[in-house]
Order: sequence, then structure tokens, then C-alpha cells
Amino acid sequence: MADKDGYSFSSWTSFIEESQIRALLKYHVEYYYAGGKPGIIPTDTFADIMADLSETYKENPKMALEDFNYGPTGGQPWFLKTLARRLCDVRGIPIDCDDEEWELVSITNGSQQALYALLDTLIDPGDVIITPSPAYLGFLVPAVKLGGRIITIPTDLDGIIPEYVEKAVHVSKMKFGKVPDILYVVPDSDNPKGTTIPMKRRKALFDICESHDMLLIEDSAYAEIQFKKNPKPIKTLDKENKRVAYLGTTSKEAAVLRVGYSVMPTNVREQVLKDKGYLDLCTSTLVQRILNEYYMNHIDEAMKVAIPEYEKRYKAMAKAMDASFPAGKRTDPTGGFFIWWESEKPDFNSKKFMMDVAIPNDILYVPGGPFYPITGYDLTDNGNDLKPTSPQPNTMRLGYSYAEPDVISEGIEKLGNLLSEELD
Ligand SMILES: Cc1ncc(COP(=O)(O)O)c(C=O)c1O
Repeated sequence: MADKDGYSFSSWTSFIEESQIRALLKYHVEYYYAGGKPGIIPTDTFADIMADLSETYKENPKMALEDFNYGPTGGQPWFLKTLARRLCDVRGIPIDCDDEEWELVSITNGSQQALYALLDTLIDPGDVIITPSPAYLGFLVPAVKLGGRIITIPTDLDGIIPEYVEKAVHVSKMKFGKVPDILYVVPDSDNPKGTTIPMKRRKALFDICESHDMLLIEDSAYAEIQFKKNPKPIKTLDKENKRVAYLGTTSKEAAVLRVGYSVMPTNVREQVLKDKGYLDLCTSTLVQRILNEYYMNHIDEAMKVAIPEYEKRYKAMAKAMDASFPAGKRTDPTGGFFIWWESEKPDFNSKKFMMDVAIPNDILYVPGGPFYPITGYDLTDNGNDLKPTSPQPNTMRLGYSYAEPDVISEGIEKLGNLLSEELD
């Protein structure tokens, strides 16, 4: 149908809204617990890197001309080698850096672009995708936009429950006549719940994907921001690089320079990079140059500062919630940026409360609703059938990454008191 100026927009524009998290950016509040914005970035280090680079470019105009130019779609070899080294040494990703296997690493414009391109290259309308409930909305919304049928799986404090994933595969075969194409998980300090999947479940998820030929997308956005040692990535089980698309991002562990990195099965990588070639041609070489220096010489120092500080913020938030929030449940993350809270009262509407009460009191969080797909299916309680998906409006995601500990203590206590007035 044409709009008032006669333009006939494509059909998705009528049912997909602007990202609910992006939409919240317009509010400027004193107590900010909304987007996953990193609050601890070594800005001096980045300023020094850029100053040194500026000198280098003046001395070496040929290099400058190359760096200010188009480059390979999947990233510059020198940067991919640096990333491959870190993925091998720190995370145990099974690539042999000494044997040219750095070529298995690619970069994208944020890991968001990799998520989008993976969906774009694997999903035809009607294809089935399995996600946890709740799940990262930056994955859910493009999945729906591209016509994917989402089946959401119950989660507990250890993340997605593998037995239900297996059941969902069978229900998908029965109802839709097809095996799902993708299982999506954020195993380390999930967005939005903050939970971490233990090794036994990681192995079970990998085995399910192996036995049904599904691609497992392991989104490890928060893998470096860990307060204690985490289980190994699921990707470590994928010795032949056939089953798991492993995604990382510089956004949380370096700076939001819009660079994500990934190790994907070769045939998947080929299609994703084909897509990226049309989406943005390539990622800025200048940005890769800056990040290359950071990953070669500064990340360990930076993480030594950032991780304890994020942990302090998390503790400040958890303590203030426990002291002031009304009856409900919260998660207890061991890393990442988020705590998830669910009111005991199922009819509490956290979105309405935010608009009517929290924002006027200078507080912002993300209501839980957008972390459930706008259309899709939940498993029934016995796991043998499907029902239309239903968001839980009595939930919220509270981010501790951006505000300082005292601002967290103060604002969360205020929020807790306001919630108690409403709900007790
Ligand atoms: C789980 C998860 N995946 C992917 C992203 C996208 O990150 P970026 O595009 O900045 O790399 C985010 C951002 O918040 C996230 O939380």
C-alpha cells in the first residue's frame, strides 16, 4: 500500500518497529541502566594510538593512502592474524595460527552485521530458528523480518535447557516438516538474562546441532568481561569447523568502533562475506589499524582495569536490588553487563511503569517485552507442541555497565522504592 507521498514501502516496514533499545537513546536521564553501553573504555590508550598513527601516516604517505582506501571485505590479513592469535591463546578456539588458519577469521561491521548476514544467507521465509526465551532482540527482530519462524526455549539460571531444544527439533519436524536451520545462544553472560551456560549443557547443545545438522550460532559478545573463569566456548568442540559460527565483538572489550570478528564454517563464511560485500563493501582499514595496535599491545592491561570495575558495578546493583526491590526474582551474573528481574506479579507491566514512573524520576532500563519475538512460538509445558509466543511484561533488563557504582546504588534504591510503592 502506498504512503501519503505515493511510496510503496516493502511489507516488513509495516510490522517491524525501530529497535526498542535504540528508541530509548533519546531519553537523557541521571540513572541510566538501559543499553549495553560500555562505561569503561581506555580512551587515553586509544588517543595515544591515534596520535602515534597520525605521525606514522605523515612519515609514510604510501601506507596512509592504503589505509584510507578500500580493503578486503573480510578484513586486513594483519588484523585477522592478530585476532586469530587472541582467539587461539586466550579462548582456545581450535584454529592453528601458525598454519595460515588465521584466514578462518573474518570481521564485520559489528557482530550485529554478522548476525544479520547469517540470517540473511541461511533463512528463507518459513525456515525455523531456535532461540532462548528471552533472547537478544538484535537477533530476534531481523529473524522475524526475514520471515523466520522462531521457536523459543525455556531458560533457567543456567541458560537455555537442552532437553527442550531437542523437543523443539521434533515439534518443528512434525508441525513444519523441517528441521530448524539455526540454534542461537549467548553462552557467556547472556543478553538479556546475564546467565552463563555450564559445560555439560554446552556439550549437549553442540551434540543436538551435530545430530540434526543445524548451525549453532555462538554469540560470545561478553566472553572477555568475566568475573571468574568461564567454561570453554562451544566452538572448542567444533574441531573441524563445521558446526559453530563463533562471533565476538570489539564493542564490549575495546571500544564501539563497529568491528565484530568471527570464525565460521568455510561455506557459511563465504556466503556471509558475499552478503557483506553488498552491505558495506568493507570495514574501515583505519579502524582496523587502531584496533590492531590495541589487541597486540594493550588489551590485557585494559581488561585488568575494566573487569574489576564492572564487577564493582554489578555488586552495587545486586546489593541495592536485594535491599529495595519488591518480591520477585533476579539473576546473578558472573560477567557481562546485565541483571534480569522478574516481578512476582504476572500482570505488572514494566514498560508502562517505565514511561509513567521511572522516566519522570530520571531512571531508564529496558522493559523485558522486546526480548520476546513479535511473532513466533513457545513450546507447551510438556514440550510436545507449540503455542503462540507470549512476552512476559513483568520483566526488565537492568544494565550496570555504564553508570558508576554510587550512581547505581542511589538510582537502583530509588527504583526499588518506586517499584515497592507500586507493587507491595
Ligand atoms: C549479545 C549481543 N550480540 C551482539 C551485539 C552487537 O554488538 P556489536 O554490533 O556492537 O558488535 C550485542 C550488543 O549489545 C549483544 O549484546
